[in-house]
Amino acid sequence: MGSLHGKVAIVTGAADGMGKAITELFVNSGISVIANDLNAEMLEQVHGNTDAVKTVAVDVTSETAAETLVQAAMSNFDGLDILVNNAGIVDYEPVESMSDANWDSTLGVNLTATFRLCRTAIPELKKSSAGRIVNIASINAVVSAPGLGAYASAKSGITGLTKTLAVELGPDNITANWIQPGAILTGMTRPLMEDPETKALFESFSVLPRFGMPEDIAKAIRFLVSDDASFVTGTGITVDGGFLAKVS
Ligand code: NAI
Repeated sequence: MGSLHGKVAIVTGAADGMGKAITELFVNSGISVIANDLNAEMLEQVHGNTDAVKTVAVDVTSETAAETLVQAAMSNFDGLDILVNNAGIVDYEPVESMSDANWDSTLGVNLTATFRLCRTAIPELKKSSAGRIVNIASINAVVSAPGLGAYASAKSGITGLTKTLAVELGPDNITANWIQPGAILTGMTRPLMEDPETKALFESFSVLPRFGMPEDIAKAIRFLVSDDASFVTGTGITVDGGFLAKVS
């Protein structure tokens, strides 16, 4: 896989779910991480501040967030090689009755914050010998369901943004890719497990005999940021337990 030792990463939404797993796997692979989350208490509890992880509790939608996170990478680790835009939210509401607030916050966290952090990180990523951007999309960039108007729009936007980043930054040896998770057991989806019917539906999403776990996503991302993926750019990896392959 090639050594990732000494690389520096920013991971957003790192206190729970996939962001937590990505941060832990990065640290175990020798990567230094600026771990961000809105939830300061949980972020501190999960990661603390060590030589390898510095926590920065800011809302990614705040106007200063991108600058704060990139500056934290520079001041703590003197560089930036990897950016993982993972923070995301979902709020189920049919388009017919969707509030502007839902639309704005869903697009704001999932898409606009990703754009802003990419924009701010690019000058530092250009100084890396092999910069890497990984944005978290969703299978809902490909297929949708009732209530997902804002979320599916945001995640489709992620794929368009990431392809453009790949094309613009290729000459600087920066790759940009996205991950398309299927149903993964995280803080976002755990509440859905309380309803037996939804739980059964959730289980049926995978053709494999288990739930998708945050670590499944973290491992795909570790591949994308490694030397083994140095010719992989402008594309997505679907990690969905076969969901998209199945006609229900
Ligand atoms: P999660 O809810 O378990 O974790 C998300 C983290 O992001 C939380 O710690 C939360 O505090 C943080 N966060 C939320 N808004 C933030 C903000 N404004 N600023 C900073 N941090 C913020 O969610 P999960 O499932 O780990 O999701 C990670 C990514 O994966 C998201 O982009 C999500 O849309 C995507 N995804 C999740 C799927 C799933 O089944 N869990 C499926 C497909 C995509």
